[in-house]
Order: sequence, then structure tokens, then C-alpha cells
Amino acid sequence: MCGIVGILGKSAVASDLVDALRRLEYRGYDSAGIATVEGGRLERRRAEGKLRNLEKRLIEEPLAGRTGIGHTRWATHGRPTERNAHPHMTNKVSVVHNGIIENFRELRTKLEAKGHRFDTDTDTEAVVHLITDELNKGNDPVAAVGRALDHLQGAFALGIIFAGEDDLMIAARKGSPLAIGHGTGEMYLGSDAIALAPFTDAITYLEEGDWAVLRRSGAEIYDRQGTRTERPVIKAVASSLLVDKGNYRHFMAKEINEQPEVVSHTLANYLDMATAQVRFPDLGLDLAQISRVTISACGTAYYAGLVAKYWIERYARVPVDIDVASEMRYREAPLPENGLAVFVSQSGETADTLATLRYCKANKQRIASIVNVRTSTIARESDAALPTLAGPEIGVASTKAFTCQLSVLACLAIAIAKARGAITKEQEIALVTALTEVPRHIAAILRQDEIYLSVAQELAKARDVLYLGRGSSFPIALEGALKLKEISYIHAEGYAAGELKHGPIALIDENVPVIVVAPEDDLFEKTVSNLQEVAARGGQIILISDAAPEKAGCTPAAHIQMPKIDSFIAPLLYAVPIQLIAYHTAVQIGTDVDQPRNLAKSVTVE
Ligand code: F6R
Repeated sequence: MCGIVGILGKSAVASDLVDALRRLEYRGYDSAGIATVEGGRLERRRAEGKLRNLEKRLIEEPLAGRTGIGHTRWATHGRPTERNAHPHMTNKVSVVHNGIIENFRELRTKLEAKGHRFDTDTDTEAVVHLITDELNKGNDPVAAVGRALDHLQGAFALGIIFAGEDDLMIAARKGSPLAIGHGTGEMYLGSDAIALAPFTDAITYLEEGDWAVLRRSGAEIYDRQGTRTERPVIKAVASSLLVDKGNYRHFMAKEINEQPEVVSHTLANYLDMATAQVRFPDLGLDLAQISRVTISACGTAYYAGLVAKYWIERYARVPVDIDVASEMRYREAPLPENGLAVFVSQSGETADTLATLRYCKANKQRIASIVNVRTSTIARESDAALPTLAGPEIGVASTKAFTCQLSVLACLAIAIAKARGAITKEQEIALVTALTEVPRHIAAILRQDEIYLSVAQELAKARDVLYLGRGSSFPIALEGALKLKEISYIHAEGYAAGELKHGPIALIDENVPVIVVAPEDDLFEKTVSNLQEVAARGGQIILISDAAPEKAGCTPAAHIQMPKIDSFIAPLLYAVPIQLIAYHTAVQIGTDVDQPRNLAKSVTVE
């Protein structure tokens, strides 16, 4: 994941910028750079690879200047070369950026037509030229950034400095986190407080949609409507400077809110954003020749695998066998020639998943694992380890790891479909484009705080809750029920919506909330029929859908409005409201959200 730092210092800042970047190394990166305002001009040094290469450059060509920004880049748009490394700049402005600018191609075409010359393959450079364009029109830096932000689509964080402005830095947050650090006569910027620990423990976390104008005397913060606003300065505690809870009450809330950023980084690892095509690593077997995909995992990771079954069978037309690892390891399942076995695990240490992996390996399957901890046993024992770039997940209930697992599995489904000729190039572009829009949609879903709180207030009174979904929404219903029971201790069950009438409908009465995961896809009408069966028996429906409640033919107790999207990406988006509902319900009840009773983060026993 990329890292951002910025310093408005009292003396030269280059070495402090590198120190701050070093504290962000844990996020992973493949190039780095810094830029400063030196004698009114913007100067920069960048290097491929590790920070020591940048330090070497700085010894050869030192950089003066009291105002600077720095970046560790995890390549998304364009290869990890020095040319593509941040900061990007013109002679007027320099920018560091995390996240994805979705409409960069469109912006680039327009700006090139106006005579702007682009030097890199990155999406970030469109931001640099957009701001330069506004400056060329005579806008001052603050107005230029304000106007440029209105044109940017996607989820991102930005740090910006200007030629001729020794006491100015602008920061913007939309989907990717940013923290401001307050010093005495100095100000700092970081993608998290960890980067700023050596300088200050007085931290302001920007909220979604905020942008800030930093000068040595302090920060002016504006909300997404452009209204001047105040955000608290909090004291970061020492322990938080290793794994930081930010200004969230629980790690789980922080991790849910990190999803626009971590999903965008994970997707960028498997997609070529510039061409809107999949760029999947070699798994050591010809994807066109796969006879069957066998998926195994536990808990939440298993539900991610279950979504993948729908994707791979539908788009790649390959049969998928899936089972929870604790069953599969003893099932003695016959495995085919040319079989691909996929294991999904956040920790990479889950004992049942590891045992199943070994069984599949012994039975000559090609082993691919989707893991968050890259050094884990499951990663090491796989033929191909496919990382999720979720960063450390501390909350016991898995959230961001789940959507990152889905991100990798979606790319895998497209890669297999492409290799087998099951989708056209146009279909591939459409699916990849839909995926690149996921971070922005998640950021919008996260903003609807009030509805999740009011649903949670009702759920907190319930004894039993049902979750329904069809097709790829069925695993999301299962995941919703799991999230709720593990952190709120309320009994919950997920069902395939069509299965309701075969038994569970007996449970429905006016005391049972029924959460229906119902994107308006080709199965929507079928789900609506099941929903009416619930309504007819007095069940309290909570509808999560992009369709208006009238279309569902009922008056739900609550309606969580979802964006209109390609149904392919629905599981990635509908996962978020069910996480938030569970989270707020647990907070309402007062359970230990991050460490619920009886649960462990990594289950290394049978
Ligand atoms: C649920 C949860 C668990 C894990 C399961 C597998 O919120 O976190 O169900 O998903 O224990 O763990 P990993 O992914 O580490 O193999």
C-alpha cells in the first residue's frame, strides 16, 4: 500500500521525510520519492526499490527546503519505475497520492488536448496537470485545488505543495485515510499516525471528504461541501503508534472504513487500470486447461470462496467444488487431473485450511492461496500465493480481509474466463471497469451512518435474526449472520432466499427481523417473491437494495439504499452494510467488539 508524508518544518526536511517513510515500509512499496520547495522552486528525488536507494540518491544529490512531501509507492497505474514514482510534478505543483483516480483517462485526454504534456503512466499525473491548469487560469493554490477536487472521481488521499509557497501544503481525503500532525511552529501530514510518531503525538484525523490547508501556524479544514469545519486534535497513545486505531473507537470500525483504500490496492495488484484488463500472476498451469476449481477455507474466508463459485461458474464456465476445510480435509474427495485448488485465509495459519491444502497437494492439484499474511505457512506451502493487501487486521471479526479476498477472487474469475475465451475483450473491460469503481462505491456506502445506527437499535432488541440472499448474495447473507452472531451474540442464520419455504419460514413472526440482501439483478424478482412470503407472516424486513421498496412490493421496516452497479460487483458492496449493521448492533449491546468472547483471530487448532 502506498504511504504519504508531508512536513512544513523549521529547517531542511529531506531526512525527516525519509525517516517518516521508513515507518510506513510495513505497508509494502516498490519505489519512493520526496519533493521539496527549494528557493521557491520544486525539486524532487525518486528511486526504484527500497528506501536505501532513495537515501543514496539524496547523498549524491542532496535536497534542501523546509517544505516537503514524500511517498512510498505500491505500483497501480504503470510499472514500478523511477519515472512513475511519486511525487509527480509540473513547475508549479507537486503531488503525492494514494488510491485510484477512476476518471484519469478522460481527464488526461482533455488536458492533453489543452497542451499539457504527460511524462508518466500514472493516474496521479492527471491530478498534477488538473491543478496546474487551474493555477494557469489565475486561481490561487487553495482555489485551484478546491476546483480540481470537484473533477476527481475515485477514492484517494492527496498531499500537495506549490512552487513559490514555502508555507503551504494541501491535503485531501476521499476514501483513503490521512492524519495531520501538529508541532510547535511545524505541521505534518501522514497516511497514518505511525509515520508521524517521531515528530508529534498531537493528531487530527481527516474525515471522509475533508480537505485541509496546512501552514506552520496550523490547519484549516473544510468538509466535503467546502464548509470550514473543526476536527479534534487527539493525543495518539504510544501503543497505537505500532498498530494504530486512529480516531475510531474499535479496530473493527477502523478496518471497515479502510476498505476503499485496501480494496483499491488489492485490485490494483491484479488489474491493469490503464487498459482495464486483468493482469493475473502465472499460477504455473494453463488456465484454459483447468478441469475443475476446488475451493476450501473456513468461516468468513469460506464465504468469500462461495461467492467465487458463483463468479467462476458463471463467467469462466468451469465447475467449482467448495467445502469448509474442516469437512474437506476428511472427505477423501476424488480430485481431477488439471485441477486448481484455491485456499482462502486471512492469517494463512488456519489448521483445517492448511491440512486441506496438504491433502490437495498430495493429490496433484495446483495450489493457489489467497492470503493476507504473506509469510504465513499457507502462503509458503502454495505453488502461488496471491496476496490481499488489507494490511494488519486486528479486529477478530474479519471485515477488510473479506472484501480484499473477494477482490482477488473476482480478478481470478476474470483471468480464467479470459484464458478460456468464455468472455470477450469488451466483457473483460466492462467487468474490470466495474471492479475499479468498487472503492468509490464503498466510500459512499460508508457515509450512510444514520441508517445503520437506526437498524442496529432495532436489531439489538431481537433474539433471532434471519438473513436472506440469492445467487452471489446468498454467501453475503451467510456472512451477515456470522458477523452478527460473533460480535453481538444474537442468534442469526443466513439462508438462500428460495430455501425459506422449505423450513425456516416457520420461525417468522413480528419479532424476527429479516435482512434481505437483494441487488436488482436477474434474480431480483425471485427474491421479491420470498420477501413477500416473509411480509405476509408479519416479519420485519430490512431491505438492502438498489431497487426502491415499491419494486419489492412491500413496506420494509428499513431500506438501505445501495448504488446502481453492475451485478458482478454486488457482493463486494453488499458486504459493507452487513458489517456496519453487525458492528453498530454490538456497540449498542456493549459487547467486546474487537475481541468477542470465545473467538481467536487465528485458529491453529483442529
Ligand atoms: C469471522 C472470522 C473467521 C475467519 C476464519 C478463517 O469474522 O474472522 O470466521 O474467517 O477463522 O480464518 P483465516 O481467514 O485466518 O483462515
